[in-house]
Amino acid sequence: MRIDASTRAFITGGSRGIGRALAEALAARGATVGIASRTADESLAAALSPKAIALECDVADQASVQRAVDAFIERTGGLELLVANAGIAHYGPFLRQDVSDIEAMTQVNWLGTVYTVHAGLGHLIDRAQGHIVVVSSGAGLRSFPWAAGYGATKAAQRMFASALRHELSGTGVGVTTVFPGEIETDLHSHQRERLPDWRGVGEEADPAGLARAVLAAVEADKRGVAYPRQVGLLGLDGIAPRLTDRILRRLRGGSSAPRRD
Ligand SMILES: NC(=O)c1ccc[n+]([C@@H]2O[C@H](COP(=O)([O-])OP(=O)(O)OC[C@H]3O[C@@H](n4cnc5c(N)ncnc54)[C@H](OP(=O)(O)O)[C@@H]3O)[C@@H](O)[C@H]2O)c1
Repeated sequence: MRIDASTRAFITGGSRGIGRALAEALAARGATVGIASRTADESLAAALSPKAIALECDVADQASVQRAVDAFIERTGGLELLVANAGIAHYGPFLRQDVSDIEAMTQVNWLGTVYTVHAGLGHLIDRAQGHIVVVSSGAGLRSFPWAAGYGATKAAQRMFASALRHELSGTGVGVTTVFPGEIETDLHSHQRERLPDWRGVGEEADPAGLARAVLAAVEADKRGVAYPRQVGLLGLDGIAPRLTDRILRRLRGGSSAPRRD
């Protein structure tokens, strides 16, 4: 699909970070953007573009997501691009983590994606056009120590999106999965001092570059986009896990793959 002034895009987690960068990139093309997050901040929308809309939406609550998507379609008259981006992260040694943190990630990252796609897909199929973007993670390709729970939710999104892409063949609706690496956002602000050694702080990529790569992938109907590009190497884990471990030890240090086999 082409992204231009006729595009209407609904983005969960559009208030900050990657979602915000996507909203800015879309607004720069003249698109109408719906920024869905737990707090509907009208001033954020106004700063983006006169056409932008702030929508209150908790992706962990199916009814809330459906209300937000319906409200967006009612106010703008349609929907072409649906972005399941909202997410949270809790890192830590599995047994020391509160199970409630893993439950929350499951609810927001994984089920939030299900609720978002479920709420908008019928509209896209009825009009035989549109595109879905699912923001997974490099950790959905190969997860890391201290990110077992997070990576599982990101892998769930990846499997969901890749199946859906094939399932929607011939409907006019495309699906792109996004695999960000380490991006400069607030995702880990609540535990900056307790991140694992392999997590590179201070070397994070700019969300604006990721947003540009995502829009290009949507327009080319690409199945996936890894950003920075080397994140795509994590996909090797499925066929060559020892090689992937070796590469990771060189790039990220021993804590990324401490066990040798
Ligand atoms: N940053 C990275 O290094 C990185 C790497 C790989 C993947 N990702 C993925 O990228 C996505 C975006 O993360 P980010 O880095 O941009 O994080 P962020 O800066 O913390 O932004 C998260 C966004 O999600 C929203 N959000 C959180 N919980 C929500 C809920 N229950 N309902 C609705 N909105 C909710 C937040 O708004 P409110 O708090 O106002 O609701 C905010 O707009 C996530 O899926 C994350 O897993 C990020």
